[in-house]
Amino acid sequence: MVRVPEPLTRLHPSRLSRLFTSRLRSPQLTSRIGRLLGIAVAVCFVTGYLSHAIQHPPGWFYWPSRPVYLYRVTQGLHVATGLAIVPLLAAKLWSVYPKLFRWPPFRDPVHAIERLSVFVLVAAALFQVSTGILNIALWYSPMSFFFTTAHYWTAWIFIGALLVHIGVKLPIIRRALGAPGHPVPTGGLSRRGLLTAVGAAIGVITVATIGQTLRPLAGLSVLGPRDPRVGPQGLPVNRSADAAGVTAAATDPAYRLEVVGPGGTLRLSLAELGALAQHTAQLPITCVEGWSATATWGGVRVSDLVAAVGGAPGASVRVESLEQNSLYRISTLAPPHAADPLTLLALRVGGQTLDLDHGYPVRLIAPNRPGVLQTKWVTRIEVLQP
Ligand code: HEM
Repeated sequence: MVRVPEPLTRLHPSRLSRLFTSRLRSPQLTSRIGRLLGIAVAVCFVTGYLSHAIQHPPGWFYWPSRPVYLYRVTQGLHVATGLAIVPLLAAKLWSVYPKLFRWPPFRDPVHAIERLSVFVLVAAALFQVSTGILNIALWYSPMSFFFTTAHYWTAWIFIGALLVHIGVKLPIIRRALGAPGHPVPTGGLSRRGLLTAVGAAIGVITVATIGQTLRPLAGLSVLGPRDPRVGPQGLPVNRSADAAGVTAAATDPAYRLEVVGPGGTLRLSLAELGALAQHTAQLPITCVEGWSATATWGGVRVSDLVAAVGGAPGASVRVESLEQNSLYRISTLAPPHAADPLTLLALRVGGQTLDLDHGYPVRLIAPNRPGVLQTKWVTRIEVLQP
């Protein structure tokens, strides 16, 4: 059965309702946009959860060290789908907003709960999209809360409210997607025209931002907050040595790297580190904000240092920075990353001594991890007993 668009007479009797006249609006249009929106939200949620789990791994969680580019793909997708949600959400809300002025606002208590869940859904969707965009733009001042915690928990509220919404609307969705679609009166924009415009908006947003992580498209990335080619030694920097308050300690000639394991402790000067077996690894540095850039890193294998202090190959390794007041002062390498021969304590990038802002004298670089876990200005590593 084809549903006829709701007559305006059932809307709130204010003059506003006279504006809701587009005959393009229909359950078919809403369901088609909703289907695309649902796919984008699902990809965004799964990739976002992955990023969270990599940084705060629950006991059951396993994240491999290969392929080296996997996190670059998942986090690139997270930001790209998050941005694609903007035009989809706008079109979806446009297709239904007259319903928000329906009068009376609810019929009975169950209907009131459903309306409340729609309110939560819309609020959570707008919150997620706007905080995500503020975050990739590094514009933290409008957020008087801790972004990571707020974005994580709102994602669960969003997904819960979305599942309730889809459950409630399922009969309409089924009918609408199964039906041939009610005929849209000729003249003006067609349904296909509207969907094409939404698709084109997604295309433009994607091409104008994806160069943050796809280097060949970097020149087109006019809306991308980061250019992966710009920064000291051709790599972006999020936190400089000055901002981290480590400049004096990192340039102190008395610097020693402490390596602690079951077989004892080593204190290695830069010259001693440079005299150990050196290796190179071509690895991306991938920021949680979606930008990434590949470089050739040179330095000492973490697995060699673990072996030098009697650590077992399957051990985890704690890596500590000279930085004092940062949430990311310490990171832990899980066994797959600690044992991977590509995981280095890097002394060089692109054949040059590391820039201070890239973590001089020593930084961690490991395959398939977020940039916030690639600890800079490393002062100590400790082999943790399994
Ligand atoms: C970000 C996610 C979403 C938001 C914020 C959203 C928002 C809304 C709102 C505000 C309404 C009007 C509610 C009412 O008063 O009846 C609505 C209706 C509807 N939504 Fe969604 N929605 C979302 C995702 C989805 C998805 C994934 C689908 C699946 C296809 C979907 C399908 C529908 C349908 C079929 C209707 C009823 C349309 C009608 O009765 O003509 N929505 N949505």
